[in-house]
Amino acid sequence: MSLKSIQKEREYTKFVVDERLCYYEPSKNKTEKTFVEELSSSLNQKQKSIHPKFFYDKSGSELFEKICKLPEYYLTRTEISILRKLDDKLSAYMDEEFRLVELGSGSSYKTRILISIFEKLQKRIEYFPIDISKILKESTTTLLDDYENLHMTGIIDNYESGLEFVKNYDDKKNLIVFLGSSFGNFDYEPGLRFLHKINSSMKDGDLFLIGLDLVKDTNILEQAYNDSQNITAQFNLNVLSRINSELDSDFNVDKFAHYATFNDSKNRIEIYIRSLENQIVNITKAGIMLEMKKGELIHTENSYKYTIPKIEEMFSNTGFRINELWFDDKQYFCLALLSKNG
Ligand SMILES: C[S@@+](CC[C@H](N)C(=O)[O-])C[C@H]1O[C@@H](n2cnc3c(N)ncnc32)[C@H](O)[C@@H]1O
Repeated sequence: MSLKSIQKEREYTKFVVDERLCYYEPSKNKTEKTFVEELSSSLNQKQKSIHPKFFYDKSGSELFEKICKLPEYYLTRTEISILRKLDDKLSAYMDEEFRLVELGSGSSYKTRILISIFEKLQKRIEYFPIDISKILKESTTTLLDDYENLHMTGIIDNYESGLEFVKNYDDKKNLIVFLGSSFGNFDYEPGLRFLHKINSSMKDGDLFLIGLDLVKDTNILEQAYNDSQNITAQFNLNVLSRINSELDSDFNVDKFAHYATFNDSKNRIEIYIRSLENQIVNITKAGIMLEMKKGELIHTENSYKYTIPKIEEMFSNTGFRINELWFDDKQYFCLALLSKNG
């Protein structure tokens, strides 16, 4: 499929902010339709659920930035500590041809470390951030001011559509990065399908850098998702406020609570919203009348934690060659640098 037909299919509008920054955004109708369709299905199952990608409206993205700074949330600072030590180790795999593509770029804070690595190799750096959240507009505008040599094309869409966009863009080599342990939100089989999708979006010579959280002490894991300032709880419950404002519903957020627990048979943190009483919520724009019993849970996120053998198995089953596995001193977190197995 050509780039033009992808733009048409997704009904993207191109916004040019500057000669060094443009972004593509699907129409509001399209985004709202996806939200309605997915909620209508996921809230109608025996185990009600809301997909974690819906966390990220403006408030959700702001709350996530607060989570990253929490003392209990070791993930961000640990991954940053590994990235800061990469420098020559990563640049040894690259040359002046590479473009940086980032899935779930968020605030692009960690991206700055990668940009500084690119700066040693290239005078003109190309960056394609992909994020479902409009935070992309702010983060790219800030980068525009901070880096004179950075040329950005943002895609405000889901990972899969962003990958299609990049795949059809041109023949330039890509370093695709997927940080923040966001891959941990995928269940095992969908995760393998997603890795296949990334693999098939890559050309020979492209690289893929992915951040994965590792299995560790249950207390450390559970505290990371049950912080003492209740920011994670606000982040989780914010999805109800988002549904209220975008789909005209009447969730009373005070009648729900955050619940996060480690499931050690599945090596994953599970996050839920618990109903504190029997209640009925109307989601008008989706035509949903949601009946919740006291104590009933809406599943909102899984965050898988990996072992090294699992990491090796996942990548060898999805057509990747592992070039490097980089860790922090405590072996809390892993960055894997992968190539397409040719
Ligand atoms: C856990 S945050 C990580 C942000 C940043 N990469 C980091 O490491 O701090 C996940 C980011 O991915 C975006 N995101 C979540 N689900 C997505 C999806 N299905 N498609 C595209 N972006 C998504 C969110 O908006 C958010 O910015």
